[in-house]
Amino acid sequence: MAILRPLAFMAKLTVRDLNVRGKRVFVRVDYNVPMEEKAGQMVINDVTRIRETLPTLELLGQNGARMILAAHLGRPKGQREPSMSLRPVAAKLAEMLHRPVAFVDDCIGEKVEKTAGVLKDGDLLLLENVRYYNEEEANDSVFAEKLAKVAEVYVNDAFGAAHRAHASTEGVARVVAKRGGRCAAGLLMERELKFLGDELEQPAKPFVVLLGGAKVSDKINVIDRLLEKADTILIGGAMAYTFRLASGAKIGKSLVEPDKTEVARAAVAKAAARGVRFELPVDNLVATPIDTGKVNKKGKPVLDLQNVRVNSGKDIPEDAEGLDIGPETARRYAEIILGAKTILWNGPMGMFEDKRFAEGTNIVAKAVVEATQKHGAKSIIGGGDSVKALNQAGLGRQVTFMSTGGGASLEFLEGAVLPGVAALSDQ
Ligand code: 3PG
Ligand code: MG
Repeated sequence: MAILRPLAFMAKLTVRDLNVRGKRVFVRVDYNVPMEEKAGQMVINDVTRIRETLPTLELLGQNGARMILAAHLGRPKGQREPSMSLRPVAAKLAEMLHRPVAFVDDCIGEKVEKTAGVLKDGDLLLLENVRYYNEEEANDSVFAEKLAKVAEVYVNDAFGAAHRAHASTEGVARVVAKRGGRCAAGLLMERELKFLGDELEQPAKPFVVLLGGAKVSDKINVIDRLLEKADTILIGGAMAYTFRLASGAKIGKSLVEPDKTEVARAAVAKAAARGVRFELPVDNLVATPIDTGKVNKKGKPVLDLQNVRVNSGKDIPEDAEGLDIGPETARRYAEIILGAKTILWNGPMGMFEDKRFAEGTNIVAKAVVEATQKHGAKSIIGGGDSVKALNQAGLGRQVTFMSTGGGASLEFLEGAVLPGVAALSDQ
């Protein structure tokens, strides 16, 4: 069980409070960006996580810091997996910052110390993937000491990885603090904590929470916590089918967690007891999955989704799988969202990666944007797939805040103390 943070979140030191001139500043960033191989080269598909760190790096640069950046990429499990090298990220960062970024193909050792030792005020160095060492995820103290060799000051701007108690997110901070060095939040970290934390403590009402995604088990703790704040909770995505099953409806071939019906029922009961409006889809877009006889790369059968149709009512036929909220649900959800003053959204309404099942997600996304732009609502998007869906619909820039964290934003919304934040110096 995670430790829950108190309501008024203790203020941490930020990068603005530091005197960094001429100092070596170890900056943990989350450059775990989506990549793809194109003509034998790894290409970055989405630079959001890089772009969002630029204000911190620019501020540190102006203040004369010598920056040593550390990050992970993928899950190489202690292997030097070449497709997970951060080298392409160094090139991209240099391009975006309009200044050179040095790169060393390791994150500890002599080469790192030598390069870090010749940095001038305002210079940047990006280290190779910290997860090339198993000691990173193990939060090994000897490894943390090695990372900290080049660090006089520690800055954590990696909100997306702050739920991990790893050497570069937690251990290094402890080492630096023990030596009397200061550990501060970066500007992105600060913004994430403000919007996902402070802004939701006393949200302007009505506060509408929109939750989707595949699993009830991923979101149940968030639901539980938000039931104490929200006026309305709208449920979409595959997790709605578990709620439906729990209410006694038929769900056909839809994705479901049959062992989670009890927690689903408990959430609905808590909502009723607290007077929170709790809405489930009243219709769905469904299709009939047909086995093609083929298997995918992972050895799973490839299904063809045929006969896409609207299924009105709560019961889904035996042969059908629910893949999106239906038009009536989308209309109702949009209407509720348009009346909100604060909106928190996490998780798509359907299988939006397939255009045929993106309509529900797109309709609610447009409603979130309209509530923000026309009615002055504050809209906060909890990272991961919902951000991807918003960007895919071309609406990313028109909400109040989009988190760069996936798992981290969920854990933070649950009220957990994130190890990467806990390790920072208090103000
Ligand atoms: C993320 O992409 O969610 C973060 O970078 C953390 O990555 P991880 O889930 O592999 O720890
Ligand atoms: Mg993850």
